[in-house]
Amino acid sequence: MTNNSLLLEIRNLKLDFGAGDGAVRAVDGVSLSIREGETLCLVGESGCGKSVTALSIARLVPTPPASYPAGEILLQGRDILRMSKTELRDIRGGVVSYIFQEPSTSLNPVFRVRSQIMESLKLHRPEAATDDEIVRLLKLVGIPAPESRMRDYPHQLSGGMQQRVMISMALASQPKLLVADEPTTALDVTIQAQIIDLLRDLKQRLGMAMLLITHNLGIVGDIADRLAVMYAGQIVELAPANELLSRPLHPYTQALMHSVPKLSGQAKRLTAIPGSVPNLGAFPSGCRFHPRCPKARFDCPERPPELLEVLPGRWVRCHYWDAALPEPHQALNPNNPALIQARQASGN
Ligand SMILES: Nc1ncnc2c1ncn2[C@@H]1O[C@H](COP(=O)(O)OP(=O)(O)O)[C@@H](O)[C@H]1O
Ligand SMILES: [Mg+2]
Repeated sequence: MTNNSLLLEIRNLKLDFGAGDGAVRAVDGVSLSIREGETLCLVGESGCGKSVTALSIARLVPTPPASYPAGEILLQGRDILRMSKTELRDIRGGVVSYIFQEPSTSLNPVFRVRSQIMESLKLHRPEAATDDEIVRLLKLVGIPAPESRMRDYPHQLSGGMQQRVMISMALASQPKLLVADEPTTALDVTIQAQIIDLLRDLKQRLGMAMLLITHNLGIVGDIADRLAVMYAGQIVELAPANELLSRPLHPYTQALMHSVPKLSGQAKRLTAIPGSVPNLGAFPSGCRFHPRCPKARFDCPERPPELLEVLPGRWVRCHYWDAALPEPHQALNPNNPALIQARQASGN
């Protein structure tokens, strides 16, 4: 990998909400990179800090209440955190485009599809602000009969079609990086699969890089080049997607994989991860996952693990990533529901 092919490099990003003694850290030392044309998926339960990390790339988290006590967000080598308002305006939509969870709330109900895409074109590519280009974009995202559909209002379209329109608006500016934040979460399961197929197809055809955010590990296998797993404001595992999915190393990743529905294939019994994501400002000491972790041992609450490259290309934040389940005398809490669940799953 040469430096030239790096599109985005987030280095040691820290994001706080609030000020002074009341400040709480939502993102704590996140480092991530995305090469041109690469798809990185950011995975984790709700509240782990995925969205605020992603929104930071175009400085879309309002400051205040947020502040950035440390870190850099280098987009094409230039630090977003130090850009002027004018420079940021060019980045937004121009270099980075976003699609979000709820297409129905992102589209304006009182304007036809045509005028909403036209607005995006006028802003970013005025020379291409034509009906022909709108039809081309709608075709690109798989909308049938685009000549007539572009005259529809958003409410005349299904949820899946609305999300396709959102994607076409995001593509109108020909971004280098598309950030898709839970783009399928609000959709039916079959439609989810179609949208993921569309994104995969677009990434191949347009050579665009993508940051795909989801709480569902079940949808990322076909599309991700690399996966980053986030927990309580930190990356806990980072690896090439196929390696991570075939052999997750962090106990949190393992738990996530047991708790997600697959879009295809056999329905398996799902197990929720016991406990919940800790609140901001109340992160457990040591390893933040230890209260929910089946592998937690006595020293996990005392020693915060670093994110380390434990195998080539595989980064893990866990002291015991390669250890078996602890014996009762080694376990932090032998009655931990996560440990009991893991023992049952492994047949011990
Ligand atoms: N504007 C805000 N003010 C205060 N806290 C916020 C704000 N936005 C997000 N948070 C908090 O930051 C944490 C991370 O949120 P978010 O990035 O949305 O998580 P995710 O996308 O992983 O579900 C959550 O605890 C959330 O409540
Ligand atoms: Mg989110």
